[in-house]
Amino acid sequence: MNFNEKYNGYLNEFNEILNEFCSGLDCSPQILADSMRYSLLSGGKRIRPVLMFAVGDLLGVRTDKLKNFALALELIHTYSLIHDDLPEMDDDDFRRGKPSNHRVFGTGNAVLAGDGLLNTAYSILIKECRKGAEYVSAAEFICDYAGVYGMIGGQSADLLHEGDGNYSEETLNFIYENKTAKLLTTAVVVPDIIGGGKYFSELKTFGSDLGYLFQLTDDILDVEGNFHNLGKSTGKDKKAGKYTAVSLYGLDACKLRADVCAERCGTIIEGINGDGEFLINLVNYVRNRKN
Ligand code: IPE
Ligand code: IPE
Ligand code: MG
Ligand code: MG
Ligand code: MG
Repeated sequence: MNFNEKYNGYLNEFNEILNEFCSGLDCSPQILADSMRYSLLSGGKRIRPVLMFAVGDLLGVRTDKLKNFALALELIHTYSLIHDDLPEMDDDDFRRGKPSNHRVFGTGNAVLAGDGLLNTAYSILIKECRKGAEYVSAAEFICDYAGVYGMIGGQSADLLHEGDGNYSEETLNFIYENKTAKLLTTAVVVPDIIGGGKYFSELKTFGSDLGYLFQLTDDILDVEGNFHNLGKSTGKDKKAGKYTAVSLYGLDACKLRADVCAERCGTIIEGINGDGEFLINLVNYVRNRKN
């Protein structure tokens, strides 16, 4: 099976879980469920669930043990995108090839759709905790990395430093690590926690490097990418005075850094017993992605 076939296999497996979740969502009023479904079903690469299932395969942890964690993680990620696009944050009119949530449902409903996704993710995680101690640890890991010591902290720093023009590597690293790498890290560490924790520190480092690479390529694509492939507007980081690696190091240096990150990720996967080919290809996909 080639890379795309395997990626689509994981993607289809996840989309089935997500579709089942979406069709079971019947909260009132209707606009709440509609706005949550709108962003969840608008597409998206689903790279976090794909990563989780792929690391599960590498470590011999079955997808059915991971599927609710993958669902919770995608709900959290999607809420972070809805809020990220709000006029008071990045003020983006498009997401996943469609008008952003607030452009369709209004800002108030978009805030609530995000809140609803986050809260539902926590309900899913709490239910998983009934299955045993390792499930509690995995749920705790996601909560910590999605929260104020993780993604939310990174988003706060991203906002705080918008337009300050006073770049430091330390601040950039804080933003990248927290707003992006922490959620990607949960995707690769959760299967390990469920499987007994053999490669915990290796996978934590892998998540951090992959997250840095992912945000580097996101920032590069904001300059070099196009709307058709990305499904979101480009050229916005510079306009907003965002604190990105491109503004700190310049485009060429960012590409060299991306190569180094990708190499580091590959070395970690090679050090793990098992068939890491798909994950190595996934790292290369992130390095060279156009979407
Ligand atoms: C976008 O994430 C936000 C960042 C962390 C850069 P993705 O690029 O994974 O977005 P989707 O889920 O594919 O839409
Ligand atoms: C967002 O980073 C990271 C999140 C936690 C949502 P960006 O603001 O660069 O993501 P895009 O470019 O809007 O997808
Ligand atoms: Mg942002
Ligand atoms: Mg944004
Ligand atoms: Mg971006």
